[in-house]
Amino acid sequence: MNQDDWKARLALIRDGSLSALGKTDAAGLAEFETHYLGRKGELTLLLRDLKDFPVEERKILGALGNALKTELSAALDVRKAETGAGAADLKKSRLDLTLAGYPFPQGSLHPLTVTANKMCDGFQKLGFSIADGPLIEEDYFNFEALNFAPDHPARDMQDTFYVDLKDAKGGDLLLRTHTSPVQIRAMKSQEPPLRVVSAGRVFRSEAVDASHSFVFHQLEGFYVDRNVTMADLKWTLEAFMKDLFGSQAKVSFSPSFFPFVEPGAQVAVSCVFCKGSGACPVCKGTGWLELLGAGVIHPNVIKGCGYDPEKWSGFAFGAGIERFAMLLYGIRDMRMLYENDLRILKQIQ
Ligand code: PHE
Repeated sequence: MNQDDWKARLALIRDGSLSALGKTDAAGLAEFETHYLGRKGELTLLLRDLKDFPVEERKILGALGNALKTELSAALDVRKAETGAGAADLKKSRLDLTLAGYPFPQGSLHPLTVTANKMCDGFQKLGFSIADGPLIEEDYFNFEALNFAPDHPARDMQDTFYVDLKDAKGGDLLLRTHTSPVQIRAMKSQEPPLRVVSAGRVFRSEAVDASHSFVFHQLEGFYVDRNVTMADLKWTLEAFMKDLFGSQAKVSFSPSFFPFVEPGAQVAVSCVFCKGSGACPVCKGTGWLELLGAGVIHPNVIKGCGYDPEKWSGFAFGAGIERFAMLLYGIRDMRMLYENDLRILKQIQ
């Protein structure tokens, strides 16, 4: 076979294949491909014949042959698309696009967030609105305005972390030790009457153990109006506890000291596990669980916020959210709330 014969055969294959392709339906395309482009296909064999030609001719003819191969493959793809043969291929493939995917792990709120939300809901039902305050707080809001004198020993119980900066008036900046500064911020920016709760993170320089952490969460609540007394505080906390823990829950008050309340109280709820019946590891047999600090807001605090203490009075309380979460979910060690171990978090929904 000489060069011209080879070219003539190539032209024949081109004409024959392209006209045949136009008439081939989806089912015939695989056979068409084998016939022309397969291992023993017409074009493949013709290209193989090139081995008998001198190098220079082989180069030129090879380029022509390969050009037809490319042209034919492209035309074949177009025809596959036209006839829907691509979809037929999908049927054969092992990938089933209609199968359901792998289950996507759905996240959920952290137990502490759930607890805080529940507590806020409880107070919202009683007419409280929600406020927020900064985590980096001025000494003034965290201590001074709350009637902690600069050298008062009550500050020792709330040792914290200081920031290497000063506030605008040169006062210390620190990580807030409780949510009580929100009382001051709310009173200074709003007119009474006020009924507010605020939940968030607080910090203390504490060693970590089963019931202490250097970062934890509190819920603050306060009510300022005319003639607010300890009786209003008692009614409000009782209504809240019964809503959260059930109607059998009882509340007890015992005297305690916080510089920003007078009188001040430690508030306990009847043990939700043993209902006060005795040998219980959670309440240690006392029948009571201490849950929060509370009291009637000190007149110095009311005055410092620009309200007339003869006209306005209020109550306030501050509760550890971890403690409530531990009771609601039966958790013995608060560190479980921070370890982010899914085996534990998944049990608490
Ligand atoms: N802020 C107090 C604390 O963290 C709790 C408290 C709040 C006490 C409001 C009385 C009134 O210990």
